[in-house]
Amino acid sequence: MKALVLAGGTGSRLRPFTHSGTKQLLPIANKPVLFYGLESIAEAGISEVGLVVGDYADDIRRAVGDGGSAFGLDVTYIPQNRPLGLAHAVSTARDFLADDDFLVYLGDNYLQDGVRDFIARARIRPAAARLLVTSVPDPSAFGVAEVEETGRVTRVEEKPVHPRSDLALIGVYAFSPAVHEAVGAIRPSARGELEITHAVQWLIDDGQDVLAEETTSVWRDTGSVDDMLEANRHVLDGLSGRLEGKVDPDSAVVGRVRLGEGAVVRGSRITGPVVIGPGSVISNAVIGPYTSIGANCRVHDSSIEASVLLDGADVECAGRIERSFIGRDAVVAAPRFPYAHRLVLGDHSKVQLHP
Ligand code: G1P
Repeated sequence: MKALVLAGGTGSRLRPFTHSGTKQLLPIANKPVLFYGLESIAEAGISEVGLVVGDYADDIRRAVGDGGSAFGLDVTYIPQNRPLGLAHAVSTARDFLADDDFLVYLGDNYLQDGVRDFIARARIRPAAARLLVTSVPDPSAFGVAEVEETGRVTRVEEKPVHPRSDLALIGVYAFSPAVHEAVGAIRPSARGELEITHAVQWLIDDGQDVLAEETTSVWRDTGSVDDMLEANRHVLDGLSGRLEGKVDPDSAVVGRVRLGEGAVVRGSRITGPVVIGPGSVISNAVIGPYTSIGANCRVHDSSIEASVLLDGADVECAGRIERSFIGRDAVVAAPRFPYAHRLVLGDHSKVQLHP
């Protein structure tokens, strides 16, 4: 069995972060979202991976490494010129997939339990398509499956206005080569994309075997900042502490804290779970819980909780920051002149100011 990992989308809901990088490389607990998926694919015993990449192909290649050997994988990069849908990605990868069974995995999804058990079951009981679904409060935001008690799927719909079940397709699918005929037969949806959901419905209409299994694992489609913060919280919940940096005697480190090499904590209180990347300097600050600080950041005289700082972010005299996502090399500082905010914000930035 092969795996097709999709990392070609644009991530419009994650602007401004996706103006300058790809969403699949945004970190959860200082590790790119994409890496969690690749690791779980390796753990499931799949080694041949097609990685479908778009505008940020070079960034992904640099992060993953040419052949994917760091993950124990054999990665082939498959360029997708435009993000025209998940089924379009499958047809783009037609040569790579040949006539093998394959897993489709959306590279911006975080699934805590990984895909090992799903793949094991797909190997024991192959089907034309096997879907992983989960119950969600807002099914109309997803592909939605109607599933019989036996696990047989009777209908799938893409983002229905009136969902007929609460089971969302979570972006993990196992296919037999039968899906290629379905992909060839469908037409673009209203949003102009070739939907994998439509290909699955084509298989159902054709009388083929389509099964679903429900998971209760923590799952996040990390499409928005709130989703990223939630995923960050879940991963940090499982964090084990390790102090490789320096903590001075005027500081207190409580709970599970991972402090990277060369990081320095001075006169600060860190309450885990917290991860602080290599080379970061934290002084006169209160950090945590549930906070991920990237590499080479600087936090001075500020308090940060339940937030993510990407590499090189600089926060000084900022008061209390909560549930925030601060980009690479971004600077947050107190105003030089009282009663005036001075803002230099990129396109699609969002700032909530205390009156
Ligand atoms: C895609 C699929 C949808 C699925 C979702 C999971 O939606 O089209 O069926 O439920 O991923 O994340 P998109 O993220 O392209 O809107």
